[in-house]
Amino acid sequence: MPFETEAEKKLIVALDFPYADEAAAFWHRLALPHAVAKIGLELLMTADGVALVKRLAEGGASVFVDAKLYDIAATVERATARVAALGAAFLTVHAQDDATVAAAVRGAAGSPLKLLGISLLTNARPESLAGQGITLSASDLVLTRAGFAAEAGFHGIVSSALEARALKSAFGSRLAVVTPGIRPASASVVGDDQARTATPAEAIAAGADYIVVGRPITRAADPNAAARAIVAEIAGAL
Ligand code: C5P
Repeated sequence: MPFETEAEKKLIVALDFPYADEAAAFWHRLALPHAVAKIGLELLMTADGVALVKRLAEGGASVFVDAKLYDIAATVERATARVAALGAAFLTVHAQDDATVAAAVRGAAGSPLKLLGISLLTNARPESLAGQGITLSASDLVLTRAGFAAEAGFHGIVSSALEARALKSAFGSRLAVVTPGIRPASASVVGDDQARTATPAEAIAAGADYIVVGRPITRAADPNAAARAIVAEIAGAL
């Protein structure tokens, strides 16, 4: 596999737009056939967004449904089966406990859908964990939740790049590590809400298997150039 293709496969583009048509047009203009298109909650709240998942998947794209599921087991199982039926490649599920992740695995059974556990949102600050009565450190919480995902047979775990190294040493190839909160050195996002960030090269060097990038691409003056610079940075770090 050419190096650039391998690097492009590691880029998940967060298509955080209010309208499905806008997201589809942006994705087609980017023209990165090996990258992954991530559809998040903003789009999934509308029928158009759900139809977009199906349409992109039918067109051959690898589609990441970032639904961050968390509900009673029966609901998580049935919702996961619906996402699998759309043809999505990846689905996120909160890895808060063993029952939730086991339910998602049952829902995905027999489909190629890859399940990714959400460990801790990358905008979480230590004070907010303490405020919720959580006494574990952010890194211990991530490792505990990753353990639930690995035991259940998830494909991977979503975490900040700061935990990627610890996750790789604890779980190795059992769990792919997916890291959002990526900020290329050259990009600044106005009013940024990501607290635990890394550059693409830092994330890959720390062991990330995929990086999720939203606003540094979608709000760039030249999104195509920004995306290609990130692919080149990933390739350089492999
Ligand atoms: O624009 P930005 O690069 O911050 O986008 C990051 C994307 O990753 C958003 O779509 C966000 O929902 C998602 N995400 C995250 N933290 C997680 C899981 C997903 O920021 N733990």
